[in-house]
Amino acid sequence: MSGKRTNPSQTARFAQERLFLRFTLRQRWEHAILLLSGLVLLLTGLPQKYREFSLSQDLLSTPDRVNLIRQIHHIAAIILALEVVYHIVRIIVLLVRRKLPGDLLPTWQDVRDAGQMLRYLLFLRKDKPKFGRYNFEQKVTYWFVFFSIAIMGISGFIIWFPVQFTQFLPGGVVPASKLAHSTESMVLAIFIIIWHVYHVHIERMNLSMFTGRVSEDEMREFHAKEYDRLVAGETSSSAQTGEEK
Ligand code: HEM
Repeated sequence: MSGKRTNPSQTARFAQERLFLRFTLRQRWEHAILLLSGLVLLLTGLPQKYREFSLSQDLLSTPDRVNLIRQIHHIAAIILALEVVYHIVRIIVLLVRRKLPGDLLPTWQDVRDAGQMLRYLLFLRKDKPKFGRYNFEQKVTYWFVFFSIAIMGISGFIIWFPVQFTQFLPGGVVPASKLAHSTESMVLAIFIIIWHVYHVHIERMNLSMFTGRVSEDEMREFHAKEYDRLVAGETSSSAQTGEEK
């Protein structure tokens, strides 16, 4: 027999490792749709913005190709818009049912946390600040992307349907939207590549948006306040039921 021996300490560690749910399947689907539609929009928008590049000229070499690239951009835009509508409707439903957790709302504690993090990074403080479910960096990401998509969506639909929009808006709104759409696309792309990818994949490899879960060690290190709250909840409920830990 060629069975591998298992290190008992590894087995014990594996058995003890607890996983915490961070994102539900619905939230992961929403993120995947956002990621894929955003990527398609960027890849089909860039050749239109930088037409002088040789790759763009190859891609847009005939009127049919220009139309195709535009149609793909429009389809991805509709998918993204539907996802945003779904997201907002869900928020409203949860709000009406008084079930919206509010974890993503900015608070003064986020400003204090950002200040403490800066002091930590400048070696003026020994420990990192403790965070709850979402830290200030994650809230900045959510709200930055939220408002950027709003700008991209509003300006994008105005460029797409200029005749309809100028029935009730001044004509200058069309060139203004073109400028806003073109510029904001770069701001959003740079923000995602530098800020989001750095925090999620370089500072630490955080795959929770794909797996849905984080380990106990990660909870202790990156979401200490939430971890303490969850563990305290477990302790009090087991104390109430007389359950042994
Ligand atoms: C609901 C969202 C969006 C709508 C309705 C939309 C619509 C449009 C339209 C109508 C155009 C003009 C060319 C064309 O007809 O295809 C355009 C161009 C463009 N879009 Fe979008 N778009 C959206 C989101 C995005 C996003 C998320 C990005 C990238 C992050 C993006 C990047 C671009 C770029 C770079 C251009 C070229 C701008 C230029 O020529 O300077 N778009 N978009």
